[in-house]
Amino acid sequence: MAKLRILFETGAPEQTIEFDPGKAPFQHDGLPGSLLDILLGHGVHLEHACGGNCACTTCHVIVKSGDGHLAEAEESELDLLDKAPGLTATSRLGCQAVVRDDADITILIPRFTINAA
Ligand code: FES
Repeated sequence: MAKLRILFETGAPEQTIEFDPGKAPFQHDGLPGSLLDILLGHGVHLEHACGGNCACTTCHVIVKSGDGHLAEAEESELDLLDKAPGLTATSRLGCQAVVRDDADITILIPRFTINAA
């Protein structure tokens, strides 16, 4: 089982999701097994204005730990991320960042992401 801990910049209480990456996809938006897929499939809201198609930046999340368990970002994701408000060195697009294995990952959902739509 993998574990995803979610912190919210809004101050909302943190949440933890335990999931089996082998069971992805958990719903229909974003790459199967991506952070967006896992969040939406477990009832945690993350903006995804383009439907998880790597065409906006509203699914921007900041990876606080465990980024080695995420598939590397493709060129298209990096290009888009450049436009994300509040970009950090460990920023990812939730719909593109696929969890590779039984990871223990902590992410922060930025306030501006939530308000972007
Ligand atoms: S939902 Fe639009 S880029 Fe991820």
